[in-house]
Amino acid sequence: MKLQSFFTCILIFLLLSILHLVSANRSDQAGFLQCLSLRLNDSNIVSRVIHTPNDTSFSLLLASSIQNPRFSAPHTPKPVLILTPVLPSDVQSGVKCSRRFGIHIRTRSGGHDYEGLSYVTHNKPFVILDLSNLRSITIDVDNRSVWVQTGATIGELYYEIGKKNQTLAFPAGVCPTVGVGGHFSGGGYGTLMRKHGLAADHVIDARMVDARGRILERREMGEDFFWAIRGGGGSSFCVVLSWKIGLVDVPSTVTVFNVTKFSEQSASKIIHRWQFVSDKISDDLFIRVMLQRYKNMVRASFPGLYLGPVNTLLRLVNREFPELGLEEEDCKEMSWIESVVWFAELGEEPIDVLSKRTRGSLAFKAKSDFVEEPMPETAVSKLWRRLQEPEAELAQLIFTPFGGRMSAVADYETPFPHRKGNIYEIQYLNYWRGEEKEKYMRWVERVYDDMSEFVAKSPRGAYINLRDLDLGMYVGDKRSKYEEGKSWGVKYFKNNFERLVRVKTSVDPSDFFCDEQSIPPFRSVEVI
Ligand SMILES: Cc1cc2nc3c(=O)[nH]c(=O)nc-3n(C[C@H](O)[C@H](O)[C@H](O)COP(=O)(O)OP(=O)(O)OC[C@H]3O[C@@H](n4cnc5c(N)ncnc54)[C@H](O)[C@@H]3O)c2cc1C
Ligand SMILES: *[C@@H]1O[C@H](CO)[C@@H](O)[C@H](O)[C@H]1NC(C)=O
Ligand SMILES: *[C@@H]1O[C@H](CO)[C@@H](O)[C@H](O)[C@H]1NC(C)=O
Ligand SMILES: *[C@@H]1O[C@H](CO)[C@@H](O)[C@H](O)[C@H]1NC(C)=O
Ligand SMILES: *[C@@H]1O[C@H](CO)[C@@H](O)[C@H](O)[C@H]1NC(C)=O
Ligand SMILES: *[C@@H]1O[C@H](CO)[C@@H](O)[C@H](O)[C@H]1NC(C)=O
Ligand SMILES: *[C@@H]1O[C@H](CO)[C@@H](O)[C@H](O)[C@H]1NC(C)=O
Repeated sequence: MKLQSFFTCILIFLLLSILHLVSANRSDQAGFLQCLSLRLNDSNIVSRVIHTPNDTSFSLLLASSIQNPRFSAPHTPKPVLILTPVLPSDVQSGVKCSRRFGIHIRTRSGGHDYEGLSYVTHNKPFVILDLSNLRSITIDVDNRSVWVQTGATIGELYYEIGKKNQTLAFPAGVCPTVGVGGHFSGGGYGTLMRKHGLAADHVIDARMVDARGRILERREMGEDFFWAIRGGGGSSFCVVLSWKIGLVDVPSTVTVFNVTKFSEQSASKIIHRWQFVSDKISDDLFIRVMLQRYKNMVRASFPGLYLGPVNTLLRLVNREFPELGLEEEDCKEMSWIESVVWFAELGEEPIDVLSKRTRGSLAFKAKSDFVEEPMPETAVSKLWRRLQEPEAELAQLIFTPFGGRMSAVADYETPFPHRKGNIYEIQYLNYWRGEEKEKYMRWVERVYDDMSEFVAKSPRGAYINLRDLDLGMYVGDKRSKYEEGKSWGVKYFKNNFERLVRVKTSVDPSDFFCDEQSIPPFRSVEVI
């Protein structure tokens, strides 16, 4: 009986707090602003940190890191405020005031979220906490470690490392404008993944603001909390202020190459064979497959990175993957940091191009899959035909090989569960110009449906950093939030979903940090 009334109390309390959140009204917003202004008691700081829609710079600031223009249309919901903290304590103030006045916040680092969740929500009045002022990078070369604030991009990080020492590197993504805030908290991978695994695998400490507004480091947050933010997606748990990461060694000379094929026959032969080789060959070698249109033709390209000189690369490929037909003139030797520029398709620009902040000009939609068994050649033919459709003019299909370090780390070591047993990941991407989007989005769905029989099925997995709202989002139906969240949570996290829920329940039981797909706390199941 006692237990029952205890739960009834909790239920009432929850209903009240939900009502409170839903009814965030003008005076809540005014209260929030006043709360913030009081906490930031220097008027210079106030104007540097708080941006209202009345400020002329507001729309520019909002757009500054929107990487998917699908979410910058005039009818896209806009935030009521943007905060650009200059000090960690400003982040604490933002969290404390928004909690007190029931204002919903979205944390934005590099703005690359595939579904725009760091700067858009349809559900409620909201505030963006934009971390772009918090971007210092402090490298300790002797200790091979770095403290990087989460408003920095991976390009800025690579550039700072490359300037200091050309045989030190960090294994993270390919696109330099990606933010370390979202990227590391969702896993993060690129050309060094077969040798070194995920970015999150190399995080050794972190500083964060939790739901109570406290600043915590690893020692204080505890190992479960620290585990959750290295792959579980930051937006469910806290605002990460900075990461301490360990650097890895790379040789002073690496080799990049790119082989391109225009005929379906020769491309599908190579791709077929690639499925048996790419995840098993030396982990010094990373070869991707990219399928896309070139005028009215489809072409397959095989860009790669080898951690060593061209002569050993050619010997290795001729022995184990002669079908690729790699020749010396396809290859170029350079330093690792130059290979980052090359892979980002920035040509032969000097390495400081990596710290340029640019915005994406094309709207896009993407979905992802993991492949556990080689697909038959007929699957490649299907993709080839799809790429000839009129809606696929700017589409890209990217196959990313796993194996190596990716398979050596156990599934439960970080929340990212797609390790051993995966040969590669496929990303289906479509880009377009302008507002009309339906036909391009349908194209991605068609390709995804075509591939269902060839990819991992139990569950059909997905990568949180390639967020896909088609997998589901909270609609507040009859199920508990836990039941709702589980349906896509297991696709992103498999068995790690339950542990993420336990962490969430203990560190943020009132679900202050939430979005359309965030990890739910247990409470709703326990109450029902
Ligand atoms: C062009 C492009 C190229 C990409 N290339 C790769 C790649 O090579 N490899 C790869 O693995 N991924 C890649 N991605 C995906 C990328 O890793 C994810 O989109 C990642 O989440 C982006 O992080 P962000 O900080 O830029 O994004 P944001 O949109 O700022 O954030 C993404 C999510 O993380 C949350 N978040 C951001 N900062 C913090 C913080 N400090 N604390 C807590 N939560 C936070 C946000 O609220 C949001 O939910 C690419 C994406 C794009 C658009
Ligand atoms: C608006 O918020 C204020 C402060 O929280 C509260 O006192 C008031 O009742 C709310 N008004 C409505 C209409 O919800
Ligand atoms: C406000 O200003 C006073 C005096 O300059 C300073 O001591 C105090 O720490 C400030 N408070 C905050 C919240 O920054
Ligand atoms: C914006 O300007 C209007 C008109 O000057 C004013 O009434 C309103 O309070 C301002 N809003 C904010 C958030 O400052
Ligand atoms: C290097 O890092 C280790 C572990 O983080 C630390 O104990 C040690 O003091 C650091 N050394 C230097 C020179 O900073
Ligand atoms: C770069 O780092 C490596 C590995 O830590 C070290 O051996 C080398 O001496 C460093 N080189 C320079 C130029 O600092
Ligand atoms: C590889 O070649 C293809 C086709 O020519 C091109 O689109 C792609 O940008 C190249 N990749 C890299 C990393 O340079």
